Amino acid sequence: MNIKVLAVAAGIVSMSSVSVQADVDFRHAIEGTVLDFSFAKKGGNTPGFKKFLVDGKNPYNGDKDAIQEGHDLYMPACSGCHGHEAEGKLGPGLADDYWTYPAAETDKGLFEILYGGAKGMMGPQNVNLNTDEMLHIMAWMRDIYKGDPKKAKWLK
Ligand code: HEC
Repeated sequence: MNIKVLAVAAGIVSMSSVSVQADVDFRHAIEGTVLDFSFAKKGGNTPGFKKFLVDGKNPYNGDKDAIQEGHDLYMPACSGCHGHEAEGKLGPGLADDYWTYPAAETDKGLFEILYGGAKGMMGPQNVNLNTDEMLHIMAWMRDIYKGDPKKAKWLK
């Protein structure tokens, strides 16, 4: 679509009427289409998210308060399908090192799955959560990770 082409050409994504420069190319985990941030729930365009758009690294990783907040957000938004400890239920476990989508080993890839969704019941989470809240949930997921440390690509 034209809008998409324009967004790519300009390297600009529009969020809540604020234009931000995205240096990282964010795409739908399955379709490969450029993520449209005009669908983003309001309130997510924080300094932390703006930083994430530049280097694709989650600024909340390792931040104790942010991790706690991420857990509080995860419970109502994700635990019904992924389990309270992210051990897996209707959806896969999120704390181990087996990923249906290996892209989730990076924060960029994980964010793409959350924002744009994957298959079936894993719909886009951008309706319930703003982008900053997604980064908080991701920080909690990384904190409870029980897999092989060598596979923790987000630390590299
Ligand atoms: C309605 C149920 C449901 C909800 C709510 C839900 N998910 Fe999912 N999720 C799934 C299903 C089912 C899959 C498997 C989809 C697939 O394989 O394409 C999945 C897949 C995923 C994956 C990919 C895992 C992998 O192994 O690659 C991640 C990451 C994920 N979900 C995170 C979340 C987070 C974080 C939330 C809350 C913000 C959430 N999901 C909310 C059902 C759900």
